[in-house]
Amino acid sequence: MTKILFICLGNICRSPMAEAMFKHMAAQAGRSEEFEIASAAVSEEEWGNPIYPPAAAILRRHGIPFDGVRTARQMRPTDYEKYDLIIAMDEANIRGIRRIAGGDPDDKIRLLMDYADEHRNVADPWYTRDFQTAYDDILKGCRALLTALDSSQTK
Ligand code: 4NP
Repeated sequence: MTKILFICLGNICRSPMAEAMFKHMAAQAGRSEEFEIASAAVSEEEWGNPIYPPAAAILRRHGIPFDGVRTARQMRPTDYEKYDLIIAMDEANIRGIRRIAGGDPDDKIRLLMDYADEHRNVADPWYTRDFQTAYDDILKGCRALLTALDSSQTK
């Protein structure tokens, strides 16, 4: 069982999208039992708020269920112990995660797009309002992540 925590700034757009999309993808591949998936925020700005309506709309448009996604919460220091991988949507998130966790002693922090061999941030829809591009990036990153975690694959 691999425990994955997706992280963004507010936990209302990118990380809940990644949570819903990765869960759906794993289910489609018949691999749900391999994972425990959740998401959280670096900031406490959006604590208790549901997934942002335009993010929900794009998931709906692509047929991705998101009823299992909880309201926003900030990452806790204990999350660092609990999860095997802490996957950030952008480089600023990585700094925030390190601040909360007190560094990265167990080398658990990753940048999502690195799995797709693209060392860059997921497009942030908060200012651009472009939720489709964020969706495309997250899809690419999550597909690559699912493949990378396939233990039947030879490395
Ligand atoms: P998210 O989007 O980090 O993808 O959930 C944002 C949500 C809230 C804010 C920024 C980005 N904000 O500035 O409150």
